[in-house]
Amino acid sequence: MTDDCRELGLITGGSLIEGLQMKLSPERSIEEVKAGKFVVVYGLLHKFFSLITDVRLDASSTNILVNPPSREDEILRQVLSGTSTYATVELKPMLMLTHKDDEPKPVKTIPPHFAPVLEATEEDVGLVFGREDKARKFFSIGSPLDMDTPVCINLDRFVERSNGIFGKSGTGKTFLTRVMLAGIIKHGKAVNLIFDMHNEYGWGTRREGGSEFVKGLKQLFPERVSIFSLDPKSTRRRGAKPDVEVYISLDQIEIEDIALLQDELQLNTTAIESAFAIYRKYQDRWLTELLSWKQEDLPEIARELGAHQQSLSALYRKLNRLKTLPFIVDDSSQSEGTIKKIINYLSRGINIVLEFGKSNSSLSYLLVANIISRRIHDYYIEKTEEYFATQNPADQPRQLMITIEEAHKFLNPQSARQTIFGTIARELRKYFVTMMIVDQRPSGIDDEVISQVGTRITALLNDEKDIQSVLTGVSNTSGLRSVLASLDTKQQALILGHAVPMPVVVKTREYGEEFYKEVSSTAGEKVDAAKSVEELYG
Ligand SMILES: Nc1ncnc2c1ncn2[C@@H]1O[C@H](COP(=O)(O)OP(=O)(O)O)[C@@H](O)[C@H]1O
Ligand SMILES: [Mg+2]
Repeated sequence: MTDDCRELGLITGGSLIEGLQMKLSPERSIEEVKAGKFVVVYGLLHKFFSLITDVRLDASSTNILVNPPSREDEILRQVLSGTSTYATVELKPMLMLTHKDDEPKPVKTIPPHFAPVLEATEEDVGLVFGREDKARKFFSIGSPLDMDTPVCINLDRFVERSNGIFGKSGTGKTFLTRVMLAGIIKHGKAVNLIFDMHNEYGWGTRREGGSEFVKGLKQLFPERVSIFSLDPKSTRRRGAKPDVEVYISLDQIEIEDIALLQDELQLNTTAIESAFAIYRKYQDRWLTELLSWKQEDLPEIARELGAHQQSLSALYRKLNRLKTLPFIVDDSSQSEGTIKKIINYLSRGINIVLEFGKSNSSLSYLLVANIISRRIHDYYIEKTEEYFATQNPADQPRQLMITIEEAHKFLNPQSARQTIFGTIARELRKYFVTMMIVDQRPSGIDDEVISQVGTRITALLNDEKDIQSVLTGVSNTSGLRSVLASLDTKQQALILGHAVPMPVVVKTREYGEEFYKEVSSTAGEKVDAAKSVEELYG
């Protein structure tokens, strides 16, 4: 214990399962004590790293509460304060450490009565969460409440599993995702494919409620990030040049993709059955065929295929919308070219931001993300099998992370079973592919998928259902609910799971000039950048 740590109070009760109670020191004001604060309890043998989960007012006798001192009676108030009236703070110990040791372990016991509780020090934070250093394993994501010390995430562990970034709209999910992606790109922990539905990752975007612009990943890492665009005109209008234009041909659209669009297109199941009937006859060309037919021939065709005529007409009418999407082409070689380029870039370690430009309807987003991810999935499985056969480290596929915003569109209980994203979330970790799921409504995501999410970074959520699903599969969460519900409306998050040793609330790192300087490959790291270009292009 050092002098510069400030004592908050003493432990007066509690249990391993329910957490501990601390009586707040009379010198401390209850208003200094916030839910989510990181504190340390000094037991005889161990330090207990804990989180404040609740704060309560207590009185030693109910008489005082029945006859409270008047507003003017300041002296009586002070006399009562700390002895007859006092504050009790609930703590949840998350890790413990023997005084001699420096490796924190899970909590298996509790400190004795009257063990002192102190605010955590810089050293405590570093000890628990690691420090950014040459090993490039740790990356700072923010600082604990009321402190100015970096809280780090273990990037190796972060990219190893799928992750989630949750929070209500406007709480800073996209900013946080950008911070995490910048860390991963800077330290080369994984190659990223970002489905950028709202054009926020590649080039600068405007800050909410201001005229200021923030930088995109392409500006921070010009030689490590490529912009693929479904709407090159829009990309150019925003003053940027896409590196690759993206096309999708009709023969790449499978029935699985249409099934995913069922809600979007308001197709019923018999329409999907008609699609199967066409597929049986025409295979990959099913959609090209369907869209080439004339309306008046449909009854005849339906009879031939043994399909329901009205459903076939509905399918025909609704899928005709696909033809109007600007990136849809007939020529399958153009589309193959796109897929090949994506795989080629990723396997060279170049991160891809796929911009949707003005083609950012849910229809385009679902369709394109699903088609591209399916092909990448096939490729990674093949590569991994090759690697298992040769066991040559040079054959090991490069770890890939796919970022999707509005993830519930793909991962709701119904779609998660049908779409490739469900498969990736459930099992692709074995094949070196993981996902970064960004979403404002985690309760809309399939439970089985959520339980596979390794690290969860959660900004404010109000809805009880959303809070519950973020905590799915986390044991002993009673205290965390109140912490989640009491976060600030912006730029604060609770981090828990695989990449941090204990749950922690952080004020997220400011994404601005200072951050650019620290991570960007354009600043200070010229030598490194030149080297990586050489590595990439040989
Ligand atoms: N880490 C951050 N650094 C700087 N500004 C932030 C940060 N997080 C949030 N903000 C502010 O909050 C606004 C909303 O953040 P955003 O990421 O767009 O929210 P969401 O994606 O959750 O809707 C941003 O426009 C920005 O002004
Ligand atoms: Mg957003």
